Amino acid sequence: MRVEVPLRKSCTLINHGPTTLITSAHGGRRNVMAAAWVMALDYEPPKLCAVIAAGTRTRELIEASREFVVCVPTLGQIDLVYAAGSSSGGDADKFARLGIATEPASRVAAPLVAGCAAWLECRVVDEPGIQERYDLFVAEVVAAWADDASFRDGRWAFATPEARTIHHVHRGVFFATGEPHTARTPA
Ligand SMILES: Cc1cc2nc3c(=O)[nH]c(=O)nc-3n(C[C@H](O)[C@H](O)[C@H](O)COP(=O)(O)O)c2cc1C
Repeated sequence: MRVEVPLRKSCTLINHGPTTLITSAHGGRRNVMAAAWVMALDYEPPKLCAVIAAGTRTRELIEASREFVVCVPTLGQIDLVYAAGSSSGGDADKFARLGIATEPASRVAAPLVAGCAAWLECRVVDEPGIQERYDLFVAEVVAAWADDASFRDGRWAFATPEARTIHHVHRGVFFATGEPHTARTPA
């Protein structure tokens, strides 16, 4: 079941560096692309940053709407992730073409990709210099959600091997998130 994650804990959803799906919407158009270069940036208010390349349909919709959703997909969605990152939405609806089901977000117009492990709804913080120079977008996280079968009490505990999150290495090869190891508390 999808449950709300307190904003102060939302960085935990991406601290381990999962490959994501970024959704966007504006003026009756919507889109989804794969994005591996996404990281947490701040706690209060929570912020993250994402590289969103110039020339993508996603970039166009985000520049127009100043909103997006970072969805954290599972190993079971690996083909969908690679497909979403291997073609441009153009004028067609990539969700329909790839058979991707969605749910409405709570605070932004961009949709949530159904079946993911977590979702972070984001509003762009204008940083025109780094957006243009590095394709880097800073955004405030305004709502966060997780599948409580895999994320409970502020930590990941994946329900099944297929429910693990994924990490892109190169050309469609991914690692799945491994098992946790807890470091000794420093003296
Ligand atoms: C696994 C994977 C990770 C990717 N990560 C990023 C990324 O972090 N930033 C980016 O701009 N593009 C990334 N891409 C490329 C975009 O997903 C790709 O250009 C996509 O076709 C853009 O779609 P759009 O034009 O419909 O927005 C990635 C692609 C793959 C397959």
